Amino acid sequence: MNICRTKQQLRLAIRDAQKHQQTIGFVPTMGYLHEGHASLLREARSDNDVVVLSIFVNPMQFGPNEDLDRYPRDEERDLALAASCGVDIVFLPSVEEMYPKKPLTTIKVEEVTSRLCGASRPGHFDGVGLVVSKLFNIVQPQRAYFGMKDAQQVAVIEQMVQDLDMNVDIVHCPIIREPDGLALSSRNVYLSAKHRMEATTLSKSLNKLHHQLKDNNKMTSDECVAFITNEIITNTSGEIDYVELLHYPSLTAVQDRLSIAESFENQRFIVAVAVKFGTTRLIDNALFQVGEVIERV
Ligand code: PAF
Repeated sequence: MNICRTKQQLRLAIRDAQKHQQTIGFVPTMGYLHEGHASLLREARSDNDVVVLSIFVNPMQFGPNEDLDRYPRDEERDLALAASCGVDIVFLPSVEEMYPKKPLTTIKVEEVTSRLCGASRPGHFDGVGLVVSKLFNIVQPQRAYFGMKDAQQVAVIEQMVQDLDMNVDIVHCPIIREPDGLALSSRNVYLSAKHRMEATTLSKSLNKLHHQLKDNNKMTSDECVAFITNEIITNTSGEIDYVELLHYPSLTAVQDRLSIAESFENQRFIVAVAVKFGTTRLIDNALFQVGEVIERV
């Protein structure tokens, strides 16, 4: 496995692959890798000749009161996991390498960023857009792999790729969960034992909602949101940041009082939640497709 700490080293490492017209699959991460990342790496491994993993905790996507300084890091463990997934090249730049000067260019994807994490973390997706476009320019992958736990991030990146004619296919990978349903996240390590137990309510409430929708596909958007909100309030001490039901991937509002089934035949919608447990903010979501029955996709 080739470890590159500079853009120059990375460009040299991928030159051979490009010369031989090999496909490059890219998995951008902020490290502290878990099974969710491993699933992206395995998918990239099976689709491509060369797999590039980047590990970079991007300061531009953290707000002033967020967890940049305490974001978990473990380079040795990350490299071992990368090797076990068959990664060819790891890009591990420093902040100075990625941002030698304050960037004066902004990537701002409108509309898809106006709700959910875009609303509660102002500037977050500008930072994601900037670093992902820099990484795409450096790595020049044919395919890039993203997990659907960050479904809004996937929608933002797809919009950016489309708007800027970036020559890369965005591959969506499913959320990987603990056996009790908790969506894997590098931030799960911060949870106290009590919050770790309560946090399973997020996925449980999404599952319960799916059962309700199968029985009664005439629930309104407000009723769905109220159902999830009530589950979280009843079963946890967490502080709700948002519970929303939106069209996916446009992330536009679902009109109140319209039956989901009648208004959105064959469309997809997302139920997304963000809850703070102590100082740890967790997100989760479920994607549904409306048909004769409402399927989880
Ligand atoms: O999803 C993440 O880990 C980050 O937002 C990403 C895409 C690596 C950009 O820093």
